[in-house]
Amino acid sequence: MSCLFNLLRNYVYRRSAADGLCRKYMYTATCGRYCTSLSIEKGYRSFSTSFHVHNRTSHSKVISFSRLIQTWTERLSRADVPEAECSVNLIVAHAFGKKMVHEVDMKTVLSEQILRSIDEMCSERLKRVPVQYIIGEWDFHDMTLEMRQPVLIPRPETEELASIIVDEWPLEREQEGTFLEIGCGTGALSLYILSKLPNVQCIAVDKSETACTLTLTNASRFNLQDRIQVIHGDIFKDQTISELSCNGPYNVLVSNPPYLTSDEMDTLEKEVAGYEDHGALHGGTDGLDIICRILAESCNLIKDKQSVLWLEVGLEQPEKIKKIVELHPEFMLSYIKTIQDFTQRGRFCKLQLKK
Ligand SMILES: C[S@@+](CC[C@H](N)C(=O)[O-])C[C@H]1O[C@@H](n2cnc3c(N)ncnc32)[C@H](O)[C@@H]1O
Repeated sequence: MSCLFNLLRNYVYRRSAADGLCRKYMYTATCGRYCTSLSIEKGYRSFSTSFHVHNRTSHSKVISFSRLIQTWTERLSRADVPEAECSVNLIVAHAFGKKMVHEVDMKTVLSEQILRSIDEMCSERLKRVPVQYIIGEWDFHDMTLEMRQPVLIPRPETEELASIIVDEWPLEREQEGTFLEIGCGTGALSLYILSKLPNVQCIAVDKSETACTLTLTNASRFNLQDRIQVIHGDIFKDQTISELSCNGPYNVLVSNPPYLTSDEMDTLEKEVAGYEDHGALHGGTDGLDIICRILAESCNLIKDKQSVLWLEVGLEQPEKIKKIVELHPEFMLSYIKTIQDFTQRGRFCKLQLKK
């Protein structure tokens, strides 16, 4: 069975940067490879410029910028680190306080400190630390969010789900409304929705304390902290469900829950297996543990017939969810539709209350 990240094969996503010089997201992977790649036409390849390196003893020595990138790219490639070239580009750009290497001012002094920092960061990549954790940030749509190991790095399908939720919001845009996100992670999904719907409030829950703190940090980055309440809780605990229902009912419930099966957990790339929170990925033997809990509790959380439950799930799970809902009329849910992701595979489930 293919894992979460098989979906991303050979996909290139062009970021809508204002200047057109975009960060491209290139998903080349078998399992779990995700990386950013620079624009080929305008990327670092066009740089042959040299940097002056100042050190304490000599006047200055000149080091080729492209040589620096090349040396680390070769080292990473020899060690079979995926997406070596774009990893190095992102790291070098980050060392200069930029997102993309072509944004670096070529006249900038390449200090010993910067060189050391690049070496340290590339050495981390050599250990297969995801580049997102190394540089400590990543983009979700147009929002640059802080990333903190081991909180799950948001994936591009979730950007799609975020757009769909906003597009299919069940209330008039100017109406107030509240939504609940189960498993907020970095806060990406909730914060994007809040940024697009200014009259909406959000309750976000996560069982990981680091995720809760990170969501709040990211909310503050975008001045959204007054419209989001983050609850540290486990939805398998009745106490958490009671707290969530006290804050409800909600017009929308959204979740990108852990949904990988135990078999899929055995096939993860090193970056994912070694550094991302397994509690954010593993949904039990068949991947459906948390999904079932959400389905069972939805009728206590969502408001009425117009309210919507959105789930991002694994490849074979929409059909299973449809059957679960049919077999459990007490959940009071109607399965409305499955929406495909950018690889044309059904990944997003829309459900509504029957009552
Ligand atoms: C797949 S990640 C999604 C993170 C984020 N929403 C995103 O889309 O990038 C799933 C999140 O659910 C949280 N989680 C897992 N089990 C949970 C539970 N029983 N109760 C609450 N949150 C849970 C994890 O800590 C993780 O942050």
